[in-house]
Amino acid sequence: MTAQDKEISRRNFLSQALTGWISISVLPVLYGMVEYALPSKIRDRILESMHVAKEADLLVGSAKIVKFNKQAIALLKSEQGQVRALSAVCTHLGCIVQYQSDRKVFHCNCHGSEFDLEGRNISGPAPRPLQPFKVDIKEGDIIISRI
Ligand code: FES
Repeated sequence: MTAQDKEISRRNFLSQALTGWISISVLPVLYGMVEYALPSKIRDRILESMHVAKEADLLVGSAKIVKFNKQAIALLKSEQGQVRALSAVCTHLGCIVQYQSDRKVFHCNCHGSEFDLEGRNISGPAPRPLQPFKVDIKEGDIIISRI
């Protein structure tokens, strides 16, 4: 290997190292710019309907919190076996409500609002009912969608 070959290979090494360093430095910045520029509706695909649970996993007279498009939804199976889906987000300031099966109400621990089984606001500062969702049961799968 001549001195000139050594110089070329050192030059090649430095060139490739510089290219790699620029790539590593620039790619995260480009990713951030693209992420910022895209509207959130494109980034986070909004689903029209979604399978959220198996009907068999929901006990009669109980409720379960599931996620639908990143939103907390309360699934409730009535004593008659009917499945209902309501937003679990309190309409006062957005805390997640809890189902109290002994009282048959959704209770918000933040400021004490309560909602009945239909989602109607019955006490506390909550200004509106809980948002209802459409429920379809297909072959034992609970599928919810916006009304
Ligand atoms: S957030 Fe639920 S009562 Fe205030």
